[in-house]
Amino acid sequence: MKYLVIGHPIAHSKSPQIHQAFAAQFKLADFSYERGLAPLEGFADFVADFVARGGRGANITVPFKEEAFRLCSELTERAAAAEAVNTIKIGANGVLLGDNTDGAGLVSDLLRHTSLANKRILLLGAGGAARGVLLPLLAEGPLSLTIANRTLARAEQLALRGGIMIKASAFDALAGEFDVIINATSASLAGLALPVPATIFAEKCLAYDMMYGKGETPFLAQAQQAGAAQCIDGLGMLLGQAAEAFYVWTGLRADIEPVLAEMRVAL
Ligand code: ATR
Repeated sequence: MKYLVIGHPIAHSKSPQIHQAFAAQFKLADFSYERGLAPLEGFADFVADFVARGGRGANITVPFKEEAFRLCSELTERAAAAEAVNTIKIGANGVLLGDNTDGAGLVSDLLRHTSLANKRILLLGAGGAARGVLLPLLAEGPLSLTIANRTLARAEQLALRGGIMIKASAFDALAGEFDVIINATSASLAGLALPVPATIFAEKCLAYDMMYGKGETPFLAQAQQAGAAQCIDGLGMLLGQAAEAFYVWTGLRADIEPVLAEMRVAL
């Protein structure tokens, strides 16, 4: 069974290590998972070649998630909503089914730490990462969901997709407290905290950064200083989206805990 993670660049991807660990849990002897560096202008041909070589599935990462969404002839509901595909399942006839497991990965990781039902959720950011998790978050039945973004118009546009219960805000206009605050901006990549009021972190607030790395991200440092009770980075989301993709391909539910512990030590 041949699988691939396709991106550009791709050398840094931890997906092979993760999926091989999942396959080992079920003793899948003929499971292979590799990195695929697709040319920036040659994604579709790269996928076609993998299909011709007997590929069964692929994970898609930066910068090809939107192109994969356009390429797949069939889409799951959650991939259609996200307008991005991070998982392709290749049918026996070579048909490409596009899925998106990012939202499920985030929600499963959040649920390891807190419940989301009846919570006041704040989503920071309105780009692709935020779009991909919006509907899965709503499905958990929060009390409210607010999207705040540097560019207010993008927050307003994204809020429209979620329906009437979603509010949009600029960072500095945020008022009140939130129980769960999720950073879906790319600010941490640039080493930046966000200009949000320190008062938005409720007493038992959980702060989550979709980014991860060695040490605390700038957003989580900010959250901790503002009194957030739990500060969690995105390593568990990475494992969660991978476990969901593995399930899409194999029908098997892998245990992320031992893999997460191993990867945390190696960061
Ligand atoms: P991604 O697919 O990672 O979401 P994106 O679609 O380019 O990438 O979106 C990046 C998100 O991070 C946006 O919400 C962006 O805010 P704008 O819509 O105002 O551009 C946000 N972002 C990036 N750098 C930021 C920074 N330094 N401060 C605050 N928000 C930032």
